[in-house]
Amino acid sequence: PEKDRANIHPMQHHVSRSTRGKIMGERAGFRGCTIWFTGYSGAGKSTLAFALEDYLCSKGIPAYVLDGDNIRHGLNSNLGFSPEDREENIRRVAEVARLFADSGVVCITSFISPYLKDRESARKVHEKDGLKFLEIFVDAPLAVCEERDVKGLYKKARAGLIKGFTGIDQIYEPPANPDLNMKTAEFGIDESIQQIVTKLEEHGIVP
Ligand code: PPS
Repeated sequence: PEKDRANIHPMQHHVSRSTRGKIMGERAGFRGCTIWFTGYSGAGKSTLAFALEDYLCSKGIPAYVLDGDNIRHGLNSNLGFSPEDREENIRRVAEVARLFADSGVVCITSFISPYLKDRESARKVHEKDGLKFLEIFVDAPLAVCEERDVKGLYKKARAGLIKGFTGIDQIYEPPANPDLNMKTAEFGIDESIQQIVTKLEEHGIVP
């Protein structure tokens, strides 16, 4: 609550970003940032996120994935899928991602994050702290995601067994202006990762 926060005084770190950058990984230099994947369930967010983590770590760049299904088993195990809970899910994830980014890690988040407003807040949380935030729209058409139905959830949602499923009876607001638009229905994983890496090179995140 607001009134309790009046008595909380944030501390400053003694370690600067450039010092942190020098000790992070084999490739020196501060490159802490957040790569934010958004898209429907089954669009390919987690697949790309973990493949990107693999790629970056293999190049000596510390990277860490925060994934929806994983975080919802721990930190956010008290949250469901109502619009309010999704908002709180994304608010917490944005704060955790900012901490990872501030520590010098390339934080990769993989959440449906269906609401424009919440993704904009996530961006602001980073940018006000001088940290890069790249939004990647994992743009597979709903029909393709439903056709794949990797976890069988669309079938359950259509049968009314899951209420409030994104794309079926809850909305997804696509990014108006993402940093990257990945057509996962048209490109393979390696090709998609290459497109992302090129973008990260443009931003000096990958040397
Ligand atoms: S959100 O909207 O960003 O808070 O969702 P997220 O934390 O990414 O969690 C999405 C995963 O939860 C499973 N699941 C559901 N998704 C959407 N709607 C409903 N009602 C739902 N219930 C469970 C689903 O497996 C999602 O996983 P992904 O990886 O996106 O396929």
